[in-house]
Amino acid sequence: MPHDIVFSEQARELQATAREIADKYVRPLAQKYDKAQEYNYEAARAVAEAGLFKTFVPKEYGGHGAGILALALVTEELAKADSGFGVAFAVNALGSFPIIVGGTEEQKKQWLPQIAAGDKFVAFCLSEKNAGSDAGGLAVTAVEDGDDYVICGEKKWTTNGGVADIYSVFCVTDPTSKSRRISAIIVEKGTPGFSVKKIEDKMGIRCVPVVETHYDNVRVPKANLIGGRAGMGFKHAMMTLDRARPGVAAQALGAAQGALDLALVYSNRRRQFGAPISSFQMVQKMLADMAMRTEASRWLVYASAAAIDAGLKNITKGAAMAKCYATDTAMAVATDAVQIFGGYGFMEDYPIAKYFRDAKILQIYEGTNQIQRMVIARNLIKEAEQLSFLEEYIPQEEQVTYRDEAVSSNA
Ligand code: CAA
Repeated sequence: MPHDIVFSEQARELQATAREIADKYVRPLAQKYDKAQEYNYEAARAVAEAGLFKTFVPKEYGGHGAGILALALVTEELAKADSGFGVAFAVNALGSFPIIVGGTEEQKKQWLPQIAAGDKFVAFCLSEKNAGSDAGGLAVTAVEDGDDYVICGEKKWTTNGGVADIYSVFCVTDPTSKSRRISAIIVEKGTPGFSVKKIEDKMGIRCVPVVETHYDNVRVPKANLIGGRAGMGFKHAMMTLDRARPGVAAQALGAAQGALDLALVYSNRRRQFGAPISSFQMVQKMLADMAMRTEASRWLVYASAAAIDAGLKNITKGAAMAKCYATDTAMAVATDAVQIFGGYGFMEDYPIAKYFRDAKILQIYEGTNQIQRMVIARNLIKEAEQLSFLEEYIPQEEQVTYRDEAVSSNA
């Protein structure tokens, strides 16, 4: 990952715009939309009018082509004010990445300009009831019929479902294939047979809907098959997640910073034993740890995003590290922030409880943190080939054990 990260002028401008919108339309309304469990259309409109949906769309298709680092900076600002709104924004990038990384020229021209303008919102439909971490184990099918695909089944945990106009839906197109089973297909809201069936009642990120999407013989033209070639879906899903995970990490970074800022202001104001609680060493330790972890997340987020923008070859490990570390940090920082607020932190009268509730999902969606650690370890083990020059410094005794022999004789 690069260690000489440069922020472009454009990225800084987008960050400043996001901060203004967050201060005006997101933070003051966060509790209202959280309680009502309603989408903040007002803020989404402001984001669209300010051109922030253009951040992640390439220039040729109506976007700013500002890159993943700019996307992270914008998401961080929005999430600092309301983590739920952070994902309400960033999920549009997640849903668009299959088209950006895998779509044909015609598909990019058809959908991306509308997304960039904020005229159409997007959702990413990968998970199912029985396919969460095992993203390859999908059951939703898309069967060819003349010039169309006919889609049947149910998707679970579709963030932005109902609000979104465009759905990137991952379907089984070849059940007999092992590596080319899955394809991504675009389904537009309003297509007969497509419906939103269950709007989840959530612990956090309540201002953005998470739903089940159902497909009852949904007929879409073959032109909607992303990339125009069946069997590329799993690869497109993984490439999408590599690019979207720094965005979730940025959401977590914003959430951690937002909770830390509130805890700092409160710990200076709150007096006990005749002094502000920020003067007590045990509180200072908490504040210092919260700040260190948040800052460490910041640089993992920025470096993993900059690596993608720089076109580095292996971006998977960095994206997983940023996602895992920043989201674990957001949960830890929000927990300590509630502790610093004491009884007030446990009450819904103040936003700090919401930071705590919003943080939990970060460790779960876009790949659980158990999956991130698995991905990181798999990559480390692969990369260890480059460390063969260290072989002479490790014990050279025979490493094959009776267990290995048993395994190879059974193979
Ligand atoms: N980029 C490109 N290709 C990749 C890849 C990557 N990062 N990772 C894997 N692949 C390719 C492999 O090369 C392999 O290709 P071949 O068949 O051609 O050899 C193929 O994909 C299969 O790879 P694996 O054997 O590694 O696959 P696996 O079954 O072991 O699964 C996994 C890998 C990492 C566990 C994956 O299933 C995964 O990421 N699971 C988590 C799913 C997830 O993140 N879901 C989130 C849903 S979205 C969401 O939550 C959004 C929201 O609501 C906001």
